[in-house]
Amino acid sequence: MKTILDLYLKNRTVILRCDLNVSIKNGKIIDDTKIKESLKTIKYILDQGGKVVIMSHLGKIKTEEDKQKNDMKIVYERLNELLPDKISFINETSGLKLKKAVKKLEYGKGLLIQNTRYEDLPKNKESGCDKKLSKFWAKLGDFYVNDAFGTIHRMHASNYGISNYLESAVGFLIMKELENLNRLDNPKRPFVVIMGGSKISDKIGIIKSLIKQADYILIGGAMAFTFLEAKGYRVGRSLFEEKYIDYCKELLKHYGDRLILPVDVYGTYNLTEKPDVILQDVENIPNDFIGLDIGDETIKLFQSILKNTKTIFWNGPLGAYEYEKFRYGTNETLKYATKNVETVILGGGDIVGCSNLLDLTKDVTFASTGGGATLKYLEDHNQPGLRNMK
Ligand code: 3PG
Repeated sequence: MKTILDLYLKNRTVILRCDLNVSIKNGKIIDDTKIKESLKTIKYILDQGGKVVIMSHLGKIKTEEDKQKNDMKIVYERLNELLPDKISFINETSGLKLKKAVKKLEYGKGLLIQNTRYEDLPKNKESGCDKKLSKFWAKLGDFYVNDAFGTIHRMHASNYGISNYLESAVGFLIMKELENLNRLDNPKRPFVVIMGGSKISDKIGIIKSLIKQADYILIGGAMAFTFLEAKGYRVGRSLFEEKYIDYCKELLKHYGDRLILPVDVYGTYNLTEKPDVILQDVENIPNDFIGLDIGDETIKLFQSILKNTKTIFWNGPLGAYEYEKFRYGTNETLKYATKNVETVILGGGDIVGCSNLLDLTKDVTFASTGGGATLKYLEDHNQPGLRNMK
């Protein structure tokens, strides 16, 4: 795979695709990890004497209102704080104004353009990988560097289309992600996968591919309730997916000895800001009970398996982590894992956000910046955003 280290960048213009798709709440960035993780590649290009045109999507753009909510300016402000006086911003995604701004940009400086998905209105040009748009962006530079690990699974104009028309390489973040995730190709055993989160529907592909490799899959989160229903238990008012009960039955039939489900759960009868927390074994869940976390016996069961484990891949929190009280199972299990297991890799969505809240990310081997991308990469390394990097 060609990397940024293979490119001679002095007096060259680099089109750099980053994943700056940060979470924003009430007009504030709540986690700037993706911006920080993009700095190494940006700085490198500038230090080598190149100029950089930085692109990213932010959210999904289907209406004019989405545009207002996902204005890249807020990302620019944070980027400018982290890298003062190096980067400017242009409220354009294509057209003559952008072309001129790139031409005028000095070497050693960067330009962040507006959200690439603004091009999705009205005609889905970014997400539909429009050829004309891909070519326009490619023509702005000498090289294309893809460092947006979070979108390697997308076949969009800015993260794939451009690479059809320009010499292309991956940046430092993608290099780091692949290096760490590739450890799971040949993991030190026992290899355990921990899966949580709410929906099985999002995880079908990854469960299918990981179950063949893993010695055990420990299941928590709301997705555990679909498995419990499939086993014939009643789960009260806990979240589960009726549609996937048969799928879970099949999995349990073939891999039941390696799929480890909760034996007890914490939950409540009335989910308020400060709910009463009740422990319940899974065989006797009352009709009006809502399960929201794994229980103490389950934590012990999971820890007994992790005791001898050498490698963990963990996707999805084990409880409804937006409520502090239901972060308990994830906290206890993750703390135990970081102390007892050699390699702990987190990835594929909310688990990293949850471990940040628990202040445990510093103790893991690697926390991936990808959501869907991490899972897709583990299923199949041949993803569109990597295909032309040669
Ligand atoms: C992510 O947050 O997982 C990436 O930025 C991809 O975003 P997307 O799912 O909107 O393409």
